[in-house]
Amino acid sequence: MYRLGLIGYPIKHSLSPWIHHTFLEQENKKGTYELFEVSPQESVEKMLQALKDKGVQGCNVTVPYKEEVISLLDEVDESAVGIGAVNTIVFKNGMTFGYNTDGKGYVRSLETSFPDIFKTPQSILLIGAGGAARGIYSALLDKGCKEVSIANRTQSSAESIRKINKTRTRSKVMSLEEAENHLDAYDVVIQTTSVGMKPREEQTVLSLSTIQPGTIVSDIVYQPIETSFLKEAAKHQCHVHYGHTMLLYQAQYAFELWTGTKPEIGTMDEQLQHILEGT
Ligand code: ATR
Repeated sequence: MYRLGLIGYPIKHSLSPWIHHTFLEQENKKGTYELFEVSPQESVEKMLQALKDKGVQGCNVTVPYKEEVISLLDEVDESAVGIGAVNTIVFKNGMTFGYNTDGKGYVRSLETSFPDIFKTPQSILLIGAGGAARGIYSALLDKGCKEVSIANRTQSSAESIRKINKTRTRSKVMSLEEAENHLDAYDVVIQTTSVGMKPREEQTVLSLSTIQPGTIVSDIVYQPIETSFLKEAAKHQCHVHYGHTMLLYQAQYAFELWTGTKPEIGTMDEQLQHILEGT
């Protein structure tokens, strides 16, 4: 009997219970995935202790606690330390272990859409330098990518992400304007900012006028699933990647850490689309 769940605030609208209950059912495992909401007046440390006492085997962590939990855990995976955020905790033998599955989940979702993507060197541009970009940057480096540049409105945040780099990966930091003028230098462009999210879905972080046909263009905004950024990419004959699948693959990796089994995503992608679109 698995006891799993999510720590965060507010989390009432989280899709994680649906995802993990589907995984449990699919894998013929008995268990629950509950919402362990921790309001700003409450202590996340006390919540962790309470979950340990209850015999919970694993939980996810979301905003605003992904950074705070790091100092409360017994061990934290090296990539999660580099990213500076934990989104998955494993409880085992009275100990707590922290991981970050967001970036790795994103990379899995990209590879599912483009299975050969990492078989040849790719020149990658990340747009944005928030928490999501940190995770994706780190996972791309782990994957052995040779060039991952970062464009952001605030260049100091992009510089701080580049400091995670302890590999031979080439990383340029640039302004959004510079990126906009040189998009033809990239094979893959990944949009990680919140620009284009409902209710401002007409917005795009930059214009794609210099992009080459055939470039892979991805957007992690999933409300709406088809953002203005991706619509523009399609007009330029780019290959588009819808970011909502990142939700499924980061959960798949977390489920693997808790149970040792890797659930199939199968038709969950289409089901998730219907849920997000309210159809
Ligand atoms: P998350 O954790 O989801 O990645 P975040 O940490 O708030 O979210 O990061 C948001 C990202 O969106 C940042 O890169 C931010 O740019 P700044 O670092 O300059 O703030 C970017 N962003 C948000 N609104 C933006 C806008 N209107 N134009 C350009 N970039 C924007």
